[in-house]
Amino acid sequence: MQAETDVVERSIRKYGAKKEAIIPILQDIQSDLNWLPEETLKAVADRLEVPLMEVYGVATFYRTLSLKPRGKHIVTVCVGTACHVRGGQRMVDQISRELDISPGETTQDMNFTLETVNCLGCCAIGPIVVVDGEYYGEMTTRKVKSVLDKYRITSGE
Ligand code: FES
Repeated sequence: MQAETDVVERSIRKYGAKKEAIIPILQDIQSDLNWLPEETLKAVADRLEVPLMEVYGVATFYRTLSLKPRGKHIVTVCVGTACHVRGGQRMVDQISRELDISPGETTQDMNFTLETVNCLGCCAIGPIVVVDGEYYGEMTTRKVKSVLDKYRITSGE
């Protein structure tokens, strides 16, 4: 697809068609498209003249890179021990209900992806929900809707 090819070419122009640039190139594509479609991986392998397996290897190694379509907003709920005892799972359940998806899934409108993580290293303010890198500590099920509302697609957007 043209848009995807353009993204690949733009990233390669930025970092150079060299093997050492695989990671920044894939990160660039990820940030433009929110995921790495198969065609982009093939194009990177072709242009950098590296085996497709190697590109896949990098794409699957880094957690920030995704081989599945991801939503515009990434909602991450900590379910590590400290957050769990403070209700982390209740946050997961509430967000799942609000968005009608399970962890690991993306809403049909591609606006949200729900993920869980095991500890974010700031247990004292748990339970924690992170949206696009913004931390919401001491979350309650009552606060979930208002946090998500900030990121919902509104008419006219
Ligand atoms: S367990 Fe959630 S931040 Fe550590």
